[in-house]
Amino acid sequence: MTKTVIIVGCQWGDEGKGKIVDRLTEYAKAVVRFQGGHNAGHTLLIQGKKTVLRLIPSGILHAGVECLIANGVVISPEALIQEIDELIQQGIPVYQRLKLSATSPIILASHIALDVAREKTTENAIGTTRRGIGPAYEDKVARRGLRLCDFFDSKQLLKKLQALLDYHNFLLRHYYHMDECDYSQIADSLLQIREKLLPLITDIPTLLAKYHQDNWPILFEGAQGTFLDCDQGTYPFVTSSNTIAGAASTGSGLGIRHFNYVLGVSKAYSTRVGNGPFPTELFDQEGEILRVRGQEYGSVTKRPRRCGWLDSVLLCRAVQLNSISSLCITKLDVLDEMEVIKICTAYRLGKQVLQEPPLHPENLANCVPLYEEHPGWKSSTTPIRKFSALPINAQRYLRRIETLTNTPISIISIGADREETIMLDKII
Ligand code: GDP
Ligand code: IMO
Ligand code: MG
Repeated sequence: MTKTVIIVGCQWGDEGKGKIVDRLTEYAKAVVRFQGGHNAGHTLLIQGKKTVLRLIPSGILHAGVECLIANGVVISPEALIQEIDELIQQGIPVYQRLKLSATSPIILASHIALDVAREKTTENAIGTTRRGIGPAYEDKVARRGLRLCDFFDSKQLLKKLQALLDYHNFLLRHYYHMDECDYSQIADSLLQIREKLLPLITDIPTLLAKYHQDNWPILFEGAQGTFLDCDQGTYPFVTSSNTIAGAASTGSGLGIRHFNYVLGVSKAYSTRVGNGPFPTELFDQEGEILRVRGQEYGSVTKRPRRCGWLDSVLLCRAVQLNSISSLCITKLDVLDEMEVIKICTAYRLGKQVLQEPPLHPENLANCVPLYEEHPGWKSSTTPIRKFSALPINAQRYLRRIETLTNTPISIISIGADREETIMLDKII
């Protein structure tokens, strides 16, 4: 049966989703982004050549594959054009492979200014990527935002822009005491880019319905991760979109019955960029080893990522929230030299022992992880391509993750390169 597969992060983003989407695109005919924006940074490494994608789906390097940016994605026209140009310079025929939704919200320079202003003036900064993501989603929900379909009529576009910018500038000047944004600069930039993007704008729901009817294997590429979900994550330290699998339907317009597989991607340990609770975070030498071996620096903002052990309490919650069919465990190789590897299997909160996240998410910050310990394997897993060839302690560690989450592992990643992957099961 043809599969429609959703790929989501099970942690706080940067799980290696991009690498896995690129790897699986070999079997797909279309790849769809359905939420987030250029806060995402998805890294592909193909025979040593690195490509970082922010908005464009991670299938773009494959010939004959359609890449769709659907309505759930907030689009910065400037960031999109820059990404398109970079890929074209590498010889990728982007205009032949990419399509954009008519109903995607537009991120303006004033959204970015508001994002920065908020981060600077609040005591409890989220640690956002400062890409204007939150303010753009706010305007969408408040029903005052611009969308790509507004490019069809430039007169109307400028009228709507004027009204929105008046509002943004009022906030910037009178609430944040910052400089206003220049209307004509933003208008000129939009009108220029409009010409380039117009040919790509399409009715994505109709396209997806047709592809589904034609039995196309389709990948839906999640951005961020489960615990950055605006409803289900570690609120308020979250992004402003729904990042869990359910968003693939609302964020693309493909009806919910047409999805039949969810692949959850998790690192073999945990990382987080930005602020917010992280129970298994390590502040010692072991955390530093993970950061250095895993090269844990943000692909968008270059910030050092916070590092810690795998948290199976949260991983089980991710399995539940996304109805995950199977797991992909990435960056197993980063643990190769560890003497002892820990997994958090419960939390202590005051006098209580919790097997699930606390009812009030803010209490996650007060949860003390309870660990089980596993012996390391002290050898390189990167050259290995078969599960049975992995060191026995690595096999046991992975089997333990399956048991704790009651979910099979279908893919293991043991290096950043496309080929450094162990496939246990056919996903698509
Ligand atoms: P995404 O946002 O989920 O696509 O992940 P990012 O690309 O932001 O971050 C993952 C980082 O880990 C990137 O630098 C990848 O090249 C790298 N990576 C992915 N899988 C592996 C792996 O199995 N081993 C190692 N060592 N690096 C990996
Ligand atoms: P990918 O798709 C990791 C984090 C930010 C911040 C919070 C809110 O590469 O996994 P935002 O700019 O979205 O309002 O920031 O979310 N964040 C990510 N962290 N990976 C990402 O994307 C992220 N996108 C946003 O660091 O804590
Ligand atoms: Mg990333």
